[in-house]
Amino acid sequence: MGNKTLAILKPDCVRKNLIGQVITKITEAGFTVKGLKMVRLTEDSAKGFYEIHKDRPFFNDLIKYMTSGPCVPIVLEKENAVEEFRKLIGATDPKKAAEGTIRKLYAENIQENIVHGSDSDENAAKEISHFFSRKNLLDINGF
Ligand code: CMP
Repeated sequence: MGNKTLAILKPDCVRKNLIGQVITKITEAGFTVKGLKMVRLTEDSAKGFYEIHKDRPFFNDLIKYMTSGPCVPIVLEKENAVEEFRKLIGATDPKKAAEGTIRKLYAENIQENIVHGSDSDENAAKEISHFFSRKNLLDINGF
């Protein structure tokens, strides 16, 4: 059971000016922010990040959406972080998300769902290095 996960505040979250409110929910739930930046994904970077979904019918729309504006990747720490964070954000489809979850509160639909959370410890490690690699010497918060 790991203690880190990757969150992304997606382009709809940034456009709706909800960065502060969503981070407040996250920290109130006991997560600590260990790394945070604002980036705009290139098409190649988005395709790499979502490689696992490349054969899904929604893939092209997903890439368009995720490259449509800046997003905010965040490294979060808490015991059992992956599972705890997925509970906090709720189901992918906000219509099915539990009351009080971030997606239930703020998300529009199954695609524009405000926030991403890693789905396993293994993917959390990969996703964290996608955004917070030590290779970039300008980063002071590489993992
Ligand atoms: P997330 O689970 O963070 O990562 C995959 C993303 O693909 C998901 O959030 C949604 O943004 C999007 N997605 C997943 N399922 C669908 C779907 N059925 N239709 C459209 N978009 C989807």
